[in-house]
Amino acid sequence: MNYLKIKGICVSLVLIGIQSCGGVPEETSASSTSDKVFAVADIMTLVAEENDITRTLYTKGIVGAGKKQGLKFDEDWQDDDVEAGPLPALFLRGVSADIRKSDVPLGLYLGSDFPINASNKFQGKQADLFKKIKTDQKPQHFYEEDQKLYTSMFADLAVAAPCVNCHNDHESTTKTDWKLGDVMGATTWQYPSDSLSYKEAIGVINAYRNGTKAVYNSYLEEIAAFKIDSTKPTIGKAWPSSGFYLPTAEVFIDSVRKLASYHSLEKLLLADNHKKVKETTDLASN
Ligand code: HEC
Repeated sequence: MNYLKIKGICVSLVLIGIQSCGGVPEETSASSTSDKVFAVADIMTLVAEENDITRTLYTKGIVGAGKKQGLKFDEDWQDDDVEAGPLPALFLRGVSADIRKSDVPLGLYLGSDFPINASNKFQGKQADLFKKIKTDQKPQHFYEEDQKLYTSMFADLAVAAPCVNCHNDHESTTKTDWKLGDVMGATTWQYPSDSLSYKEAIGVINAYRNGTKAVYNSYLEEIAAFKIDSTKPTIGKAWPSSGFYLPTAEVFIDSVRKLASYHSLEKLLLADNHKKVKETTDLASN
């Protein structure tokens, strides 16, 4: 199970031939500060980028293309009498709920200033910082005093036509003139410490990936329980862009990994190189 959890990273490492799975450094002491090689903002940036890739792929490749094939997506997708899949925001909320069930202390929230769902409206410091994000689209990293959590916020952009159309037309919308490219909201990520070890960083990435897999799988389980056969797409290797199909969870996650892994790996290695340079300098100055 442990192997499965870190498989994404291991495979990437093997691919470019530097380290095998077992090569991910074992920590001698989880609390040793010298092991804390990653700044929390860097790891939140990394996982937020994976989330962007996942979210865009799901919105365009599954929701956008799927709707054209007759697949339905609904707020109440988990109700027994609703034969539909999760909306992108609910997909994200599902991932967030799955992470919360894991032992990784990572928080994920999607908010906005003009939300469809009032409980997604930013409050306090996050509302102030969101105003900044709307003007420059730059991430905000800060310490949330009240919750005692390191917090990073990233712009959530209207990357695909379905984002704009669905929000503008929604019966509970608070804004009807969203345009493609608008900052529609922000994802807020939270973590309790300012730096992470390798193990913790990989834990964060895997908690996110496992969450994605769990939500996607529960969508496929919903489909299996659909009562009307004509509403069940064929599940396999193909995507809705080529017919009444849906990819399996493995195919979906694989596509995310292909798009995200290389970039994620680069970042992990870069941080490791910084550490090595620092160690060499420290040694030289001793
Ligand atoms: C088919 C409809 C639909 C599509 C497509 C869709 N959304 Fe949403 N979105 C919703 C609904 C409904 C909610 C509220 C869900 C809830 O109850 O939290 C929501 C929530 C959100 C929120 C949180 C604030 C709010 O409005 O409650 C943001 C931000 C957001 N969506 C952005 C996007 C972006 C960006 C995309 C495209 C990548 C997108 N949405 C695609 C329907 C949609």
